[in-house]
Amino acid sequence: MRVVRTIADLRALLRTHREQGQRIGFVPTMGFLHEGHGALIRQSAARCDATVVSIFVNPDQFGPGEDLANYPRDLERDQGLCLETGANVLFIPEVSEIYPTGFQTHVEPGRLAEPLCGQFRPGHFRGVATVVAKLFHIVQPDLAFFGQKDYQQAVVIRRMVRDLNMPVDVVVVPTIREADGLALSSRNAYLKPEERTRALALSLGLLAAKAAFDAGERSTARLLELAQAPLQQVDDLQYLELVDAQTLEAHDGTVDRTVALCVAAYVGTTRLIDNVVLSPSPEGAGLNVSLSPQAS
Ligand code: PAF
Repeated sequence: MRVVRTIADLRALLRTHREQGQRIGFVPTMGFLHEGHGALIRQSAARCDATVVSIFVNPDQFGPGEDLANYPRDLERDQGLCLETGANVLFIPEVSEIYPTGFQTHVEPGRLAEPLCGQFRPGHFRGVATVVAKLFHIVQPDLAFFGQKDYQQAVVIRRMVRDLNMPVDVVVVPTIREADGLALSSRNAYLKPEERTRALALSLGLLAAKAAFDAGERSTARLLELAQAPLQQVDDLQYLELVDAQTLEAHDGTVDRTVALCVAAYVGTTRLIDNVVLSPSPEGAGLNVSLSPQAS
């Protein structure tokens, strides 16, 4: 595995892969990798000839008072996981490499960035879309892999790729969970033992709603009620919403299309998000179908 720190070196290295007709897979990350990232890298390694992983804690997607300064880092462990899961190139740029002095051009996502996390993290998806667009231009991957845990992020990026005609296929990989259901996240590292127990409220509610949905429940109100029940355990519930899987507009009444049940809450000082996708038709159950780039 090659570790590269500059855009020029990465481009030179990838040119040789491309000249050999290789298919390039890309997994953008902010580091402090876990098995969720491992699943993305493994999928890329299985489907592509060369896999590039980037580790870049993007200051542009953190708001004032968020955890940029304390974001967990462990480069040595990250390198081990990348190697073990099949990455070929690890790109670790400095902030000045991505945002040189004078930088002032951004990608402004539209309506998809407004609901859910967008209400609580103004500017977050602008920062995500901008850095992902830059990384796509730098790496020029054939396929790029994102986790379903960041559902709104995946939808925003899919839309950006379509709207800006970026020649990359976005693959969304299902969320990896601990044995008890907690969605893997780099931010789980912040949780004290007692908070880790209470953090389970998010997945317990979502998975109860999903089980009811799979057993035939189609009432939005009832599904929200089931997901809500354990959430008295959290310290601050930001949102629990059932939204259309593609437009992210709130869905009411009977679930007659693919929807996403999404939650964000603070446990202690840690902000956690999670979601499940619910599809009444078997073909819509896979996230890549429900988020199909062809669908509007
Ligand atoms: O999901 C993340 O880790 C980040 O938002 C991403 C996609 C790497 C952009 O900084």
